[in-house]
Amino acid sequence: MSPSRTCARSPYMEYAKLRSEARYNLATSGVMSYPLSGLPVKLEDLEINGPTLYGYTPLRERLAQRNGVTADNVVTAAGASMANHLAFAATVNPGDEVLVEHPTYELLVSTLEYLGARVRYFERRMENHFRVDPAEVDRNMTPETRLICLTNLHNPTGALIDEPTLRAVGDIAKMRGACVLVDEVYLEALYDERPKPAIHLGDHFLVTSSLTKAFGLSGLRCGWVLANPDLTDRMWHINDLYGVNAAYPAELLSVIALDNLEAVTARAKQLLDANRPPLEAFLKSRADLEYFLPEYGTVVFPKLRNGDVEALDRLLREKYETAIVPGSYFDMPQHFRIGIGGDTEMTGIALERLSAALDELR
Ligand SMILES: Cc1ncc(COP(=O)(O)O)c(C=O)c1O
Repeated sequence: MSPSRTCARSPYMEYAKLRSEARYNLATSGVMSYPLSGLPVKLEDLEINGPTLYGYTPLRERLAQRNGVTADNVVTAAGASMANHLAFAATVNPGDEVLVEHPTYELLVSTLEYLGARVRYFERRMENHFRVDPAEVDRNMTPETRLICLTNLHNPTGALIDEPTLRAVGDIAKMRGACVLVDEVYLEALYDERPKPAIHLGDHFLVTSSLTKAFGLSGLRCGWVLANPDLTDRMWHINDLYGVNAAYPAELLSVIALDNLEAVTARAKQLLDANRPPLEAFLKSRADLEYFLPEYGTVVFPKLRNGDVEALDRLLREKYETAIVPGSYFDMPQHFRIGIGGDTEMTGIALERLSAALDELR
């Protein structure tokens, strides 16, 4: 039997799982883990089996309420990763074209290609603060484009897409009978300032998100899609072919986490507020870097003006026990991604080490 789908793998995910670990870690894009002891969980609150069929109703209801929609707009999924997979599978057939921002989170492309989609790109440019330019989107649409795929905040740059821009992209999509998927996993990191999810801009918008990045709750795998009920219905049936149901204890814990999200948020905000000033000081001190500093979020994506980012990455690992994400994972090899969601003392030392390595390479 010949193997099918031989390209079904994600170089970025393999890197993130197997090679991004370091004592001084600037390679993560989320805030550090929130501990179970920070939630009021008692063992008797948990159970192994429970009433999960097409999602656990109390979880869907909490997510609906949090996002200003109804439960029939919500599909729960194993992280934003499976949420994206379900959203793609529900909107794209093999051979369809999908317009994706560049640079982008590599897994979006791997998943689309696995599903047989043809991927086209439009540029988000540093000189334009990595904004989405609707004219650029429009120029790259074709009669075969079924979906436009965006991340907000943008991974890897942290750039925010404002509502007028989302509306303009939505109009372009609608005119051609296409949908817009907005991955909002980093928009959650605006916390109290988070704008309404893009589902409120029209029936042809889908939103994916999770409790992973902004809250440090990755292990719960609490992700979701927000979409119109025809699409959510389709996704629930597709999910029957994948995971069938989530782990019930994780759904119970996710409900507890959502009921206590204020405490989780307070810790995350405090961490990011403490880690931003050293990041800004570092960037200002480096004439060898060109950068766009986003207003929000956990990452920045500077460009090394001269020199080799792969060599920087090697030096950082071998001599400085420090990790960044080389821009080659985002198809922009002159850039690298710095994440500031880690422990504050560790992040400060990591930035000092990054400075030392940059000096050494000059
Ligand atoms: C844009 C984007 N979406 C989704 C994910 C995956 O999130 P989750 O851990 O919830 O599956 C990531 C992880 O890096 C991401 O950057």
